[in-house]
Amino acid sequence: MPIFLIPIIVVLAIFCLTALVGAPYVPSRNKEIREAFTKLYKLSKNDLLIDLGSGDGKVLKAASECGASSIGIELNPILVFISKLRLRKDKNASVYCRDYFHFDFPAETTVVYLFSEDRDTPKIVNYIEKQATKIGHPIYLISYAFEAEKYKSEKNYRAYYLYKIKETK
Ligand SMILES: C[S@@+](CC[C@H](N)C(=O)[O-])C[C@H]1O[C@@H](n2cnc3c(N)ncnc32)[C@H](O)[C@@H]1O
Repeated sequence: MPIFLIPIIVVLAIFCLTALVGAPYVPSRNKEIREAFTKLYKLSKNDLLIDLGSGDGKVLKAASECGASSIGIELNPILVFISKLRLRKDKNASVYCRDYFHFDFPAETTVVYLFSEDRDTPKIVNYIEKQATKIGHPIYLISYAFEAEKYKSEKNYRAYYLYKIKETK
């Protein structure tokens, strides 16, 4: 096998393996993210947003432009590297390479951004509920393209749904 093919195969393998664990990498559109942060949920400097499966970091970048702090959790190390490059001058955004089901939300978390898939969304909603219970206050969920079945959305905008995920008793 030609040596130059090895890095290409490694990169493809990383993308394929991470897609087996959760939603594959498909980025949200910049224009739509910005509309979601203004017309669906007015993101501000008082917010800490977590992007569950943060891809290339563009959601975090848009959050910073609104003055919010943000944390990205991403399984794919190549996307984490690209995000870190993109956000290298940004003090309000950070990215961690890990499975989001093993990430404890900071107490300041106010909003979660999610672009996942049908299969995973109910499990993720349950996880956000657990985190809301732990930190003792509700968390807004901005879900792109997929509905959180057990909740009624507070608001919709284009392909986005806004939910208020409450603590469980
Ligand atoms: C549809 S993409 C969305 C990317 C980004 N949030 C956006 O909207 O542009 C989903 C991302 O979630 C990541 N992902 C899937 N399952 C994950 C898990 N269990 N933990 C961390 N990241 C995960 C994938 O690698 C992929 O980059």
